[in-house]
Amino acid sequence: MNDNIHILSHPLLQHKLTILRSKDTSTKDFRELVSEIAMLMTYEATRDLPLEDVEVETPVAPGVFKTIAGKKLAIVPILRAGLGMVDGVLKMIPAARVGHIGLFRDPDTLEPVKYYCKMPADIAERDVIIVDPMLATGGSASAAISFMKEYGCKHIKLMDVLAAPEGIARIEKDHPDVEVYIAALDDHLNEHGYIIPGLGDAGDRIFGTK
Ligand code: PRP
Ligand code: URA
Repeated sequence: MNDNIHILSHPLLQHKLTILRSKDTSTKDFRELVSEIAMLMTYEATRDLPLEDVEVETPVAPGVFKTIAGKKLAIVPILRAGLGMVDGVLKMIPAARVGHIGLFRDPDTLEPVKYYCKMPADIAERDVIIVDPMLATGGSASAAISFMKEYGCKHIKLMDVLAAPEGIARIEKDHPDVEVYIAALDDHLNEHGYIIPGLGDAGDRIFGTK
């Protein structure tokens, strides 16, 4: 694995992820946990945001302090399951814009099929964080990154809760420039392209569609 792959092993993330994996976790709890995990992952994935100095007067003295340097950010969830991470990211970066990419994975070919796309008008000037809970074959994430590059985006990060080695290898090969943040790297994919041990179908569990 190259240096662009970051496994976020914070105890709070690991604890919440274990609850997420359980087949007995309800839709309500699953949705809340995905949001909380996204919030904690954003904290880690934004460590490299540049800072600049600002002058501020506290109630007792003036001073020079740090603020995030005018970086423009956009969060891009891959529909549907990526939607479950948006509010968690926005809690940390409230001024971020949100672009949407609709992709579903064809159950037979496992190839991503695009059905929707809507981006902020100035997306090419923004740093992008693509969010999706699952990086399985990596087909969906690789296609989403390629779309963002076609829009002119130059700084792209990918944030997934869970990944399979196959998905990580795909992103390393197709997009070696992209920093990837995951909370855990699982064992393998099964014959249906599901992450093992994984957590099942993230979209169905977030939205209660099964
Ligand atoms: C899931 C998941 C990813 C994709 C990962 O979406 O949310 O987008 O599969 O698989 P891959 O790495 O092999 O491409 P799914 O196609 O189930 O759509 P959904 O989010 O609408 O449920
Ligand atoms: N998509 C999911 O939602 N779960 C998996 O395990 C693989 C792809």
